[in-house]
Amino acid sequence: MSLYCHIMKQHFNLKPLKLVSILSLSLLFSMCSEKGQAQNQTNESVVKISVDAKRGGPEINRHIFGHFAEHLGFGIYGGVWVGPDSDIPNTRGIRNDVVEALKLLKVPNIRWPGGCYADQYHWRDGIGNPEERHSRINVSWGGAIEPNTFGTHEFFDFVEMIGSEAFISANVGSGTVQESADWLEYLTATGSTLAEERAENGHPEPYNVEFWGIGNEVWGCGGPFTPQEYITQLKKFATFTTNYNTDVPTQFVAVGPDSFDEYSFGYTDAIMEAWANKTWTWDIQGLSLHNYTRGGWPPEIKATKFGELQYASVIKETLGMDQFIAENAAIMDKFDPDKLVSILVDEWGTWYKATEGTNPDFLQQQNSIRDAVLAALNFNIFTRHAERVHGANIAQMINVLQSVIFTEDEKMVLTPTYHAFRMYVPFQDATRLPIDFIAGTYQVDSISLPRLDAIAAKGKDGNIYVAITNIDVKNTASIDLSLDGLTIESVHGETLYASSIDAVNTFDNPDNVAPEEIKATVSGSNVSVTVQPQSLTVLSLITKD
Ligand code: AHR
Repeated sequence: MSLYCHIMKQHFNLKPLKLVSILSLSLLFSMCSEKGQAQNQTNESVVKISVDAKRGGPEINRHIFGHFAEHLGFGIYGGVWVGPDSDIPNTRGIRNDVVEALKLLKVPNIRWPGGCYADQYHWRDGIGNPEERHSRINVSWGGAIEPNTFGTHEFFDFVEMIGSEAFISANVGSGTVQESADWLEYLTATGSTLAEERAENGHPEPYNVEFWGIGNEVWGCGGPFTPQEYITQLKKFATFTTNYNTDVPTQFVAVGPDSFDEYSFGYTDAIMEAWANKTWTWDIQGLSLHNYTRGGWPPEIKATKFGELQYASVIKETLGMDQFIAENAAIMDKFDPDKLVSILVDEWGTWYKATEGTNPDFLQQQNSIRDAVLAALNFNIFTRHAERVHGANIAQMINVLQSVIFTEDEKMVLTPTYHAFRMYVPFQDATRLPIDFIAGTYQVDSISLPRLDAIAAKGKDGNIYVAITNIDVKNTASIDLSLDGLTIESVHGETLYASSIDAVNTFDNPDNVAPEEIKATVSGSNVSVTVQPQSLTVLSLITKD
């Protein structure tokens, strides 16, 4: 049974039917049932995966590999910014080691300055002479003093250094429509007084602003607004905030929900209904969803020193991303069958109990091989929803929540999640390919999970890429991969594996969890490879045809 069928069966066994029609469900189950029946017999050691490399699917938008960097704890200060006078090697105040590491991820976009912080951020605090910028208190995150030395120009300098794009979250909660309008004019205009001010501050050319978020979590820290109150704001902000850089269109992103409840789905419904009835003055191109894996509130899950049951419950929760997207997408389909408004899951990742001895408001946590497996599963879910999901942002980039990098003074270490992002780079803007396999079941007490997951794509370089995640922590899986009708010339692959489920990288042992080459053998249209427990593997296949 494919992972998709597995999740859908579990969900609809538990919940009454609501947003998906009975007709489409019966079709779904009829597609799943044949293999579903075989599932209980299929923990055999060989898993057959077949990829139809001749049939193309949708593009896997590179923006699903986006990042989120908030003014929170050591996410910006210490993580990205050390200042030009620091002994830590930097370029105009931005850490060189971090820039070099991020370049390898081909980070497609960075969402900034928040999160909750965005709704207290006033952009004028962060421009002009750094000596004259005044500080504020970061009310959202521990009352830290925010010096505003990292502001608009520093952010765009960082974005340009790593070859990325900007995703700005505008202040709707405590800001004004005029403030938002002025910021985007400052960033993108030519010839106006605000454009001249930008030039005087060092950047004569307009900036590219790929995404503009109209608020953040407006039902919570960014408001709080009812759906109708937010829609009133949304219309005003979207009407009066203009991108003047015609070279690069800006995608406007409305706020959607973060929960599996009727009230949250009501947000999606209300916004999409307002969008369907919009006037010519405003539009949105995206709807934001947030979905953390955190096992309740306050977060109590341990980032390290956990057992198999804790591993399995975290994986089970994260697989709920599929249902969360599916339910929101079903609501959107009612108003937008042509999929003109995309889903951007612009905050996702694990949210564990903070590392002991750290400020709990700074959201610092370790990152293990479990996080890498979980990242791969989420990439796969986004890929399976590629028709509607055109973006996602890991929370967060550095030193906060499920980071890809940790820094401490001059030291830097790459996390297992970093390696998952790096291994998936070939999937950016690749074409999804149909894939078929029987996942089997991995059972831990009462938790039933698919044993394996996989996606396939044709990369922009013409190679075929197959990503295989072995969720099972006890058993290796022997894979018999076939490319329907195509002869394989060669195969290369990398695997990320650690013998212990809570293995981490530290400043003293930075390569404890690091990708290694994996041996795979080719025979005609088939590849054989054995993948380790709790591992992710990406194979690159060159075909003769
Ligand atoms: O990522 C941490 C916080 O989580 C963000 O600031 C907020 O948007 C979300 O609740």
